[in-house]
Amino acid sequence: MTEGSKRILEGKTIVVSGASSGIGRAIAVHLARQGAGLVLVGRDRARLEDTAQQAGAKVCRIVQLDLTEVTAIMPSVKETVAVLGRLYGLCHAAGTVDTLPLSAIGPEKLQAIMQVNYVAGMELARSVTRRDLLLEEGGSVLFISSIYSLIGKPGQIAYSGSKGAVTAGARAMATELARRNIRVNVLSPGMVRTEMTERALAGLSGQQVQALKDMHPLGFGSPDDVAHAAGFLLSPESKWITGANLVVDGGCSAQ
Ligand SMILES: NC(=O)c1ccc[n+]([C@@H]2O[C@H](COP(=O)([O-])OP(=O)(O)OC[C@H]3O[C@@H](n4cnc5c(N)ncnc54)[C@H](OP(=O)(O)O)[C@@H]3O)[C@@H](O)[C@H]2O)c1
Repeated sequence: MTEGSKRILEGKTIVVSGASSGIGRAIAVHLARQGAGLVLVGRDRARLEDTAQQAGAKVCRIVQLDLTEVTAIMPSVKETVAVLGRLYGLCHAAGTVDTLPLSAIGPEKLQAIMQVNYVAGMELARSVTRRDLLLEEGGSVLFISSIYSLIGKPGQIAYSGSKGAVTAGARAMATELARRNIRVNVLSPGMVRTEMTERALAGLSGQQVQALKDMHPLGFGSPDDVAHAAGFLLSPESKWITGANLVVDGGCSAQ
Protein backbone atom coordinates (compact mmCIF):
# COMPACT_ATOMS: atom_id res chain seq x y z
CA MET A 1 0.00 0.00 0.00
CA THR A 2 1.38 3.42 -0.88
CA GLU A 3 1.72 6.21 1.69
CA GLY A 4 -1.05 8.26 0.04
CA SER A 5 -3.56 5.40 -0.08
CA LYS A 6 -3.39 4.39 3.58
CA ARG A 7 -6.73 5.96 4.56
CA ILE A 8 -8.39 5.23 1.22
CA LEU A 9 -11.63 4.10 2.93
CA GLU A 10 -11.97 7.21 5.13
CA GLY A 11 -15.62 8.20 5.47
CA LYS A 12 -16.88 4.94 3.95
CA THR A 13 -18.92 2.52 6.04
CA ILE A 14 -18.70 -1.22 5.36
CA VAL A 15 -20.83 -4.04 6.76
CA VAL A 16 -18.68 -7.04 7.74
CA SER A 17 -20.48 -10.29 8.56
CA GLY A 18 -18.61 -12.93 10.54
CA ALA A 19 -16.71 -10.10 12.23
CA SER A 20 -16.57 -11.87 15.60
CA SER A 21 -13.87 -14.33 14.54
CA GLY A 22 -11.05 -15.37 12.23
CA ILE A 23 -11.07 -13.98 8.72
CA GLY A 24 -14.02 -11.59 9.23
CA ARG A 25 -12.39 -10.08 12.31
CA ALA A 26 -9.05 -9.61 10.52
CA ILE A 27 -10.85 -7.95 7.59
CA ALA A 28 -12.70 -5.57 9.93
CA VAL A 29 -9.47 -4.56 11.66
CA HIS A 30 -7.70 -4.05 8.32
CA LEU A 31 -10.57 -1.96 6.89
CA ALA A 32 -10.53 0.27 9.98
CA ARG A 33 -6.79 0.86 9.42
CA GLN A 34 -7.73 2.08 5.93
CA GLY A 35 -10.14 4.54 7.59
CA ALA A 36 -13.44 2.66 7.08
CA GLY A 37 -16.40 2.87 9.44
CA LEU A 38 -17.60 -0.59 10.46
CA VAL A 39 -20.88 -2.41 10.94
CA LEU A 40 -19.91 -5.66 12.66
CA VAL A 41 -22.36 -8.55 12.24
CA GLY A 42 -22.37 -11.86 14.11
CA ARG A 43 -24.15 -13.76 16.88
CA ASP A 44 -21.61 -13.34 19.67
CA ARG A 45 -21.86 -9.79 21.03
CA ALA A 46 -18.85 -10.05 23.38
CA ARG A 47 -16.60 -11.17 20.55
CA LEU A 48 -17.95 -8.47 18.23
CA GLU A 49 -17.07 -5.97 20.96
CA ASP A 50 -13.52 -7.41 21.06
CA THR A 51 -13.28 -6.86 17.31
CA ALA A 52 -14.56 -3.29 17.69
CA GLN A 53 -11.90 -2.62 20.31
CA GLN A 54 -9.12 -4.12 18.18
CA ALA A 55 -10.28 -2.15 15.13
CA GLY A 56 -10.64 1.17 16.97
CA ALA A 57 -12.75 2.58 14.11
CA LYS A 58 -14.18 6.09 14.59
CA VAL A 59 -17.55 4.88 13.30
CA CYS A 60 -18.59 1.46 14.55
CA ARG A 61 -21.88 -0.29 15.15
CA ILE A 62 -22.43 -3.81 16.42
CA VAL A 63 -25.32 -5.77 14.97
CA GLN A 64 -25.95 -8.97 16.90
CA LEU A 65 -27.78 -11.16 14.44
CA ASP A 66 -28.23 -14.82 13.65
CA LEU A 67 -28.00 -14.80 9.86
CA THR A 68 -30.25 -17.85 9.59
CA GLU A 69 -33.02 -15.38 10.45
CA VAL A 70 -32.86 -13.87 6.98
CA THR A 71 -36.00 -11.75 7.38
CA ALA A 72 -34.22 -9.77 10.11
CA ILE A 73 -31.39 -8.72 7.78
CA MET A 74 -33.12 -5.94 5.80
CA PRO A 75 -34.64 -4.23 8.92
CA SER A 76 -31.22 -4.32 10.67
CA VAL A 77 -29.51 -2.74 7.68
CA LYS A 78 -32.22 -0.03 7.43
CA GLU A 79 -31.85 0.71 11.14
CA THR A 80 -28.06 0.95 10.75
CA VAL A 81 -28.36 3.44 7.87
CA ALA A 82 -30.82 5.52 9.90
CA VAL A 83 -28.11 5.87 12.58
CA LEU A 84 -24.85 5.97 10.57
CA GLY A 85 -25.94 7.22 7.15
CA ARG A 86 -25.55 5.50 3.80
CA LEU A 87 -23.23 2.56 3.34
CA TYR A 88 -20.33 2.04 0.95
CA GLY A 89 -20.06 -1.74 0.98
CA LEU A 90 -20.35 -5.24 2.32
CA CYS A 91 -18.00 -8.09 3.10
CA HIS A 92 -19.87 -11.35 3.71
CA ALA A 93 -17.33 -13.40 5.65
CA ALA A 94 -19.76 -15.27 7.91
CA GLY A 95 -19.71 -18.93 7.08
CA THR A 96 -20.25 -22.38 8.39
CA VAL A 97 -18.88 -25.80 7.45
CA ASP A 98 -19.92 -29.35 8.23
CA THR A 99 -17.65 -32.08 6.87
CA LEU A 100 -19.97 -34.96 6.01
CA PRO A 101 -20.12 -37.75 3.44
CA LEU A 102 -22.97 -37.77 0.93
CA SER A 103 -24.81 -40.49 2.88
CA ALA A 104 -25.09 -38.15 5.89
CA ILE A 105 -26.17 -34.97 4.09
CA GLY A 106 -29.92 -34.79 4.33
CA PRO A 107 -31.84 -31.76 3.03
CA GLU A 108 -31.79 -30.14 6.49
CA LYS A 109 -27.97 -30.19 6.77
CA LEU A 110 -27.72 -28.90 3.22
CA GLN A 111 -30.15 -26.08 3.87
CA ALA A 112 -28.43 -25.06 7.13
CA ILE A 113 -25.13 -24.50 5.30
CA MET A 114 -26.78 -22.82 2.29
CA GLN A 115 -28.69 -20.49 4.60
CA VAL A 116 -25.62 -18.89 6.19
CA ASN A 117 -23.10 -19.16 3.35
CA TYR A 118 -25.34 -18.30 0.40
CA VAL A 119 -28.88 -17.11 1.25
CA ALA A 120 -27.80 -14.73 4.03
CA GLY A 121 -25.00 -13.36 1.85
CA MET A 122 -27.39 -12.59 -0.98
CA GLU A 123 -29.90 -10.99 1.41
CA LEU A 124 -27.15 -8.86 2.96
CA ALA A 125 -26.11 -7.75 -0.54
CA ARG A 126 -29.75 -7.02 -1.50
CA SER A 127 -30.14 -4.89 1.62
CA VAL A 128 -26.82 -3.03 1.51
CA THR A 129 -27.14 -2.18 -2.20
CA ARG A 130 -30.71 -0.85 -2.00
CA ARG A 131 -30.88 2.53 -3.71
CA ASP A 132 -31.84 4.35 -0.52
CA LEU A 133 -29.25 2.58 1.66
CA LEU A 134 -26.05 2.72 -0.42
CA LEU A 135 -24.03 5.81 -1.34
CA GLU A 136 -25.29 7.27 -4.62
CA GLU A 137 -21.83 7.18 -6.22
CA GLY A 138 -21.68 3.38 -5.87
CA GLY A 139 -19.79 0.93 -3.70
CA SER A 140 -18.16 -2.44 -3.32
CA VAL A 141 -19.39 -5.89 -2.30
CA LEU A 142 -17.11 -8.80 -1.46
CA PHE A 143 -18.03 -12.42 -0.75
CA ILE A 144 -15.63 -14.78 0.99
CA SER A 145 -15.96 -18.05 -0.89
CA SER A 146 -13.40 -20.88 -0.77
CA ILE A 147 -11.08 -22.88 -3.02
CA TYR A 148 -13.50 -25.70 -2.28
CA SER A 149 -15.80 -24.00 -4.79
CA LEU A 150 -13.09 -24.80 -7.36
CA ILE A 151 -11.62 -28.13 -6.25
CA GLY A 152 -13.35 -31.23 -4.89
CA LYS A 153 -12.63 -32.94 -1.57
CA PRO A 154 -14.43 -35.81 0.13
CA GLY A 155 -16.81 -34.61 2.83
CA GLN A 156 -17.18 -31.11 1.35
CA ILE A 157 -20.25 -31.61 -0.85
CA ALA A 158 -22.52 -29.27 1.12
CA TYR A 159 -19.83 -26.66 1.80
CA SER A 160 -18.46 -26.70 -1.77
CA GLY A 161 -21.97 -26.41 -3.19
CA SER A 162 -22.75 -23.39 -1.00
CA LYS A 163 -19.49 -21.67 -1.93
CA GLY A 164 -19.98 -22.46 -5.63
CA ALA A 165 -23.37 -20.78 -5.37
CA VAL A 166 -21.74 -17.73 -3.76
CA THR A 167 -19.12 -17.48 -6.51
CA ALA A 168 -21.60 -17.89 -9.36
CA GLY A 169 -24.23 -15.63 -7.79
CA ALA A 170 -21.69 -12.89 -7.20
CA ARG A 171 -20.54 -13.01 -10.83
CA ALA A 172 -24.12 -12.50 -12.05
CA MET A 173 -24.64 -9.76 -9.45
CA ALA A 174 -21.56 -7.94 -10.76
CA THR A 175 -23.09 -7.70 -14.25
CA GLU A 176 -26.38 -6.42 -12.83
CA LEU A 177 -24.98 -3.76 -10.50
CA ALA A 178 -22.15 -2.37 -12.66
CA ARG A 179 -24.47 0.30 -14.13
CA ARG A 180 -24.80 1.75 -10.62
CA ASN A 181 -21.01 1.61 -10.17
CA ILE A 182 -21.35 -1.11 -7.55
CA ARG A 183 -18.55 -3.65 -7.88
CA VAL A 184 -19.03 -7.26 -6.77
CA ASN A 185 -16.10 -9.61 -6.25
CA VAL A 186 -15.24 -12.91 -4.62
CA LEU A 187 -12.21 -13.96 -2.66
CA SER A 188 -11.47 -17.69 -2.42
CA PRO A 189 -9.06 -18.62 0.35
CA GLY A 190 -7.22 -21.90 0.80
CA MET A 191 -6.57 -23.24 4.28
CA VAL A 192 -6.29 -20.38 6.80
CA ARG A 193 -5.66 -20.98 10.49
CA THR A 194 -8.83 -19.88 12.30
CA GLU A 195 -11.27 -21.40 14.77
CA MET A 196 -13.14 -23.01 11.87
CA THR A 197 -10.04 -24.84 10.68
CA GLU A 198 -8.73 -25.64 14.18
CA ARG A 199 -12.03 -27.47 14.78
CA ALA A 200 -11.66 -29.35 11.49
CA LEU A 201 -7.95 -30.12 12.01
CA ALA A 202 -8.62 -31.44 15.52
CA GLY A 203 -10.63 -34.31 13.99
CA LEU A 204 -7.83 -35.37 11.59
CA SER A 205 -4.85 -37.68 12.01
CA GLY A 206 -1.30 -36.27 11.87
CA GLN A 207 -0.94 -37.80 8.40
CA GLN A 208 -4.13 -36.10 7.16
CA VAL A 209 -3.00 -32.71 8.53
CA GLN A 210 0.37 -33.16 6.80
CA ALA A 211 -1.41 -34.01 3.53
CA LEU A 212 -3.40 -30.76 3.80
CA LYS A 213 -0.20 -28.80 4.50
CA ASP A 214 1.44 -30.42 1.49
CA MET A 215 -1.43 -29.13 -0.68
CA HIS A 216 -0.30 -25.54 0.08
CA PRO A 217 3.16 -24.74 -1.39
CA LEU A 218 3.37 -21.57 0.76
CA GLY A 219 1.93 -23.30 3.85
CA PHE A 220 -1.35 -22.46 5.56
CA GLY A 221 -2.45 -18.83 5.43
CA SER A 222 -3.20 -16.38 8.23
CA PRO A 223 -6.38 -14.28 8.52
CA ASP A 224 -4.24 -11.21 7.73
CA ASP A 225 -3.18 -12.74 4.40
CA VAL A 226 -6.86 -12.77 3.40
CA ALA A 227 -7.60 -9.37 4.98
CA HIS A 228 -5.01 -7.54 2.86
CA ALA A 229 -6.51 -8.93 -0.36
CA ALA A 230 -10.02 -8.13 0.88
CA GLY A 231 -9.01 -4.55 1.68
CA PHE A 232 -7.82 -4.11 -1.90
CA LEU A 233 -11.00 -5.56 -3.46
CA LEU A 234 -13.23 -3.43 -1.24
CA SER A 235 -11.31 -0.19 -1.74
CA PRO A 236 -11.44 2.16 -4.75
CA GLU A 237 -7.88 0.98 -5.57
CA SER A 238 -9.61 -1.89 -7.42
CA LYS A 239 -12.14 0.40 -9.12
CA TRP A 240 -11.92 -1.40 -12.51
CA ILE A 241 -12.31 -4.90 -11.04
CA THR A 242 -15.73 -6.51 -10.86
CA GLY A 243 -17.01 -10.07 -11.27
CA ALA A 244 -13.57 -11.39 -10.30
CA ASN A 245 -12.71 -14.35 -8.12
CA LEU A 246 -9.35 -13.74 -6.43
CA VAL A 247 -7.83 -17.01 -5.23
CA VAL A 248 -5.68 -16.51 -2.12
CA ASP A 249 -4.45 -20.00 -1.33
CA GLY A 250 -0.67 -20.16 -1.00
CA GLY A 251 -0.46 -21.83 -4.41
CA CYS A 252 -2.81 -24.71 -3.57
CA SER A 253 -4.92 -24.57 -6.73
CA ALA A 254 -1.94 -23.73 -8.98
CA GLN A 255 -0.77 -27.34 -8.87
N1 LIG B 1 -10.46 -20.72 7.53
C1 LIG B 1 -10.33 -21.22 6.31
O1 LIG B 1 -9.42 -22.02 6.03
C2 LIG B 1 -11.25 -20.81 5.22
C3 LIG B 1 -10.92 -21.18 3.91
C4 LIG B 1 -11.77 -20.79 2.88
C5 LIG B 1 -12.89 -20.04 3.15
N2 LIG B 1 -13.18 -19.69 4.44
C6 LIG B 1 -14.37 -18.89 4.66
O2 LIG B 1 -14.01 -17.71 5.36
C7 LIG B 1 -15.10 -17.26 6.16
C8 LIG B 1 -14.64 -17.06 7.59
O3 LIG B 1 -14.17 -18.30 8.10
P1 LIG B 1 -13.28 -18.41 9.43
O4 LIG B 1 -12.29 -19.47 9.16
O5 LIG B 1 -12.84 -17.06 9.87
O6 LIG B 1 -14.37 -19.05 10.43
P2 LIG B 1 -14.72 -18.79 11.96
O7 LIG B 1 -13.52 -18.33 12.71
O8 LIG B 1 -15.43 -20.01 12.41
O9 LIG B 1 -15.76 -17.58 11.85
C9 LIG B 1 -17.03 -17.77 11.29
C10 LIG B 1 -17.79 -16.49 11.46
O10 LIG B 1 -19.09 -16.69 10.89
C11 LIG B 1 -20.07 -16.22 11.81
N3 LIG B 1 -21.28 -16.99 11.70
C12 LIG B 1 -21.41 -18.32 11.54
N4 LIG B 1 -22.71 -18.67 11.55
C13 LIG B 1 -23.42 -17.52 11.73
C14 LIG B 1 -24.80 -17.21 11.85
N5 LIG B 1 -25.74 -18.16 11.80
N6 LIG B 1 -25.16 -15.92 12.01
C15 LIG B 1 -24.22 -14.95 12.08
N7 LIG B 1 -22.92 -15.17 11.98
C16 LIG B 1 -22.51 -16.45 11.81
C17 LIG B 1 -19.43 -16.42 13.18
O11 LIG B 1 -19.98 -15.47 14.07
P3 LIG B 1 -20.71 -15.85 15.47
O12 LIG B 1 -20.07 -17.07 16.02
O13 LIG B 1 -20.57 -14.61 16.29
O14 LIG B 1 -22.10 -16.05 15.06
C18 LIG B 1 -17.97 -16.10 12.91
O15 LIG B 1 -17.73 -14.71 13.03
C19 LIG B 1 -16.19 -18.34 6.02
O16 LIG B 1 -17.11 -17.93 5.04
C20 LIG B 1 -15.41 -19.55 5.53
O17 LIG B 1 -16.24 -20.43 4.80
C21 LIG B 1 -12.39 -20.04 5.48
